[in-house]
Amino acid sequence: MRMEQSTLGQRRKPALFITGAGGEVGHGLITSLSSNNSVDIVASDLRDLDEDLRSQCAETYLADVCDRDALDRLLSMYQVKEIYHLAAVLSTRAELAPEVAHQVNVNGTVNILQIAAEQGRMYGEPVKVVFPSSIAVYGFSSLAQKTEAGAVSEYEYCKPRTMYGCNKLYCEHLGRYYAHSYRQLAQDSVQGTDKNRGVVDFRCVRYPGLISAETIPTGGTSDFVPEMVHAAARGEAYTCFVREDSRIPFMTMPEAIDATLKLAAAPRNSLSQIVYNIASFSPSAGEVAELVKKYFPGADITFEPDERRQVIVDSWPEALDCSVAENDWGFKPSYTLEQAFEEYLVPKIIKQYESAT
Ligand SMILES: NC(=O)c1ccc[n+]([C@@H]2O[C@H](COP(=O)([O-])OP(=O)(O)OC[C@H]3O[C@@H](n4cnc5c(N)ncnc54)[C@H](O)[C@@H]3O)[C@@H](O)[C@H]2O)c1
Repeated sequence: MRMEQSTLGQRRKPALFITGAGGEVGHGLITSLSSNNSVDIVASDLRDLDEDLRSQCAETYLADVCDRDALDRLLSMYQVKEIYHLAAVLSTRAELAPEVAHQVNVNGTVNILQIAAEQGRMYGEPVKVVFPSSIAVYGFSSLAQKTEAGAVSEYEYCKPRTMYGCNKLYCEHLGRYYAHSYRQLAQDSVQGTDKNRGVVDFRCVRYPGLISAETIPTGGTSDFVPEMVHAAARGEAYTCFVREDSRIPFMTMPEAIDATLKLAAAPRNSLSQIVYNIASFSPSAGEVAELVKKYFPGADITFEPDERRQVIVDSWPEALDCSVAENDWGFKPSYTLEQAFEEYLVPKIIKQYESAT
């Protein structure tokens, strides 16, 4: 068995695997990983990755996370040490095609967890699976309940009202199962009495809405903030689909990437839980509009709430309690909202649109 493992290890190249690599988070993650990591990056997505991303990866593949055979074929050449499983159908899209979302978000995640478990068993060391979840896992029954709750911890109010939220919450539970109890009754189980000794080292970071200066989101329900900023920078009018007083947590994309990598790098025995809240600030849509107008005085922003999307935003918390992430692995926001505009968003966005013209 030992010899077989080491022979396999020699044949297969150690690699870090990323799904959904062509998305907003994938862009930031690959850029950061490729400058700081010695292990080869193998990236995959349903769609072609742009040339810049491809050049930062050892290999890139077109692959559907729902296609287990395709994943097995492409990973048969690698010893996967770490997986960043980003592929997902986001909240707004998921409400248009809930069964497709379930297929991708849940079955795709099961495929990834199974691959991690098989590789972990084959090489006798846990494979790290880093999984971004979302504030969509929460669900308040009323705006009054949301306001009263204030900053919520990881395990309160987890009653999602969207398919995406249901999928993410279930995948958090699946990850915990694969990390702590996978095949707990099987004869050949490698689990010992120590619950941390699973074949999958699952780590989940629950993102708030993300704001990137480089990429524009599609398909999410927190997109109103990044859309507002990018529209103003392009000199376009923007009609916001939620009320001015709508408040949910956000952070910038670089902060989300840094936090994700910090969680991934934390010693396993420092992690007291599977799921961690992270966020930097909690502005209302109206407060963001005011700041946008400060930096782009010509910005034309109006509010025409779409009642159906508003209900979803109202079911998400206005702030997150991130104290466990702070204590366990040193999470710390880099910016207040004002600093995010001043030091990151505005300079980068202006530069980006200037260079595009
Ligand atoms: N962006 C946010 O504000 C935000 C907030 C919370 C959580 N997240 C989570 O972070 C992760 C990355 O999000 P993102 O913002 O980069 O989203 P994105 O929509 O920009 O990227 C998702 C990528 O997944 C790919 N994909 C979709 N279905 C696939 C399939 N069947 N097989 C393979 N690839 C598939 C898409 O082509 C896309 O490139 C997701 O899991 C998302 O749920 C994002």
